[in-house]
Amino acid sequence: MTSLPPALLAALEKALGPGGLLTDASDMAPFLTDWRSLFHGKACAVARPASTEACAEAVRLCAEHNVPVVPQGGNTSMVGGATPDETGHALVIVTSRMNKVREIDPIDNTMVIEAGVTLKAAQDAATNAGLMLPLSISSEGSAEIGGVLATNAGGNNTVRYGNARELVLGLEAVLPDGQVLNLMRRLRKDNTGYALRQLFVGSEGTLGLITTAILQLQPKPKSVEAALCAVADAKGALALFSAFRNTEPSAIQAFEFMSGLSMNLVNTLIPDASLPLSEPAPAYVLVELASPREGGALRDLMEEVLGKAFEDGLVSDAVLAESETQRLAFWKLREEHAEAQKRAGASVKNDVSVPLSAIPTFIDRATAACEKLIPGIRVAPFGHIGDGNIHFNLVQPEGADGKAFLARDHEMMDTVANIVRELGGSFSAEHGVGQLKTYMMPSWRGGAELDMMRRIKGAVDPEGIMNPGKIFPAS
Ligand code: MLT
Ligand code: ZN
Repeated sequence: MTSLPPALLAALEKALGPGGLLTDASDMAPFLTDWRSLFHGKACAVARPASTEACAEAVRLCAEHNVPVVPQGGNTSMVGGATPDETGHALVIVTSRMNKVREIDPIDNTMVIEAGVTLKAAQDAATNAGLMLPLSISSEGSAEIGGVLATNAGGNNTVRYGNARELVLGLEAVLPDGQVLNLMRRLRKDNTGYALRQLFVGSEGTLGLITTAILQLQPKPKSVEAALCAVADAKGALALFSAFRNTEPSAIQAFEFMSGLSMNLVNTLIPDASLPLSEPAPAYVLVELASPREGGALRDLMEEVLGKAFEDGLVSDAVLAESETQRLAFWKLREEHAEAQKRAGASVKNDVSVPLSAIPTFIDRATAACEKLIPGIRVAPFGHIGDGNIHFNLVQPEGADGKAFLARDHEMMDTVANIVRELGGSFSAEHGVGQLKTYMMPSWRGGAELDMMRRIKGAVDPEGIMNPGKIFPAS
């Protein structure tokens, strides 16, 4: 049962309306554990506001009673970013009931959307309006727009259209004192002081709770070509990326790398996934080209670049999607990587980025270091190689004890991070810091950078009630 004082409980119930406040342990349970089951928290209640006004009133009441607030969207964080701590003091505010696509404007090419719409539903709404929302991540069926923005999600199309940050024109957020900050301007150009909306993008809910946004859409592609290619290694994958980029950079919509080991996990652990190549390869690339123009030009481009890559020995085999069904089957092989690794046992995710030129060295050095650290470890790198973002994921040795493996997570993360640092990279390219990686902040972002982040946090949220324990290490 809830630990909320009766007066606050009654005020929250009134503000949130019927079904808006969960206090029963079994109703709250799904919101208190993360997708990876790494974090298990407690809460005084779970709020499900259906409007900005209800959300703002709930936050205002929390501020008045000094109750921490944990914003939560689709609960797909990889770093415990939306899970409350174990004290049970926090109110989890779930955005799922704020779930309307309010407007799509075909001249502005914009979408006005509430925080609780899933990314998939947002993509579908744009498609139905003859446009495209160019943001795609493996968890898009559950991830919600508010969380996608709060974590500056990247994903498969960043190589062409940028991160979530590049797609946000306007934003509305509830501040830690309950005020509503309205930045809902759909302007491409607006030089009137600080770009406050960008403060919220990537802030992981530590500065406020995003309730509504205006997103930039793109023309819907009329031709798309996808190919699954067998390559020798990351060096070969990068050479293939350069070949496409040097021929027609604007055509590349996605360029994804998958190691042989991680693809093999998908192929064996995911029902209906099947590799369309005649034999397994050391590594794979899924390349997708897209154009708003109809016609066969992209097919010609794909065949030209792959034909030459074949002659040069960069690609040993390739299959071009002959139908939309086959294109989606290729994407299934890529998007099920996280799920396949989950089924393979405990895993440690290193969501890193390095300059493109350093990727092969990074993978070679980090693989050797991890194999030395834990013999039998399954090194399963994959990801957005065109952005320099590799998910250098480490799966427990077969038959090993998952708990004992996870107990060494910092050792593994630090082994990888030290190499990333030497190569001029970042320890988190898209999953964020959450609570899993706060310990890395002082050594990576210490000094003036972390100091400035703390000062911004202190100015916007002086009582520290918004998503405590995330991004910032305890001081
Ligand atoms: C992905 O791109 O599929 C992910 O960000 C998932 C992961 O790191 O496991
Ligand atoms: Zn990713």
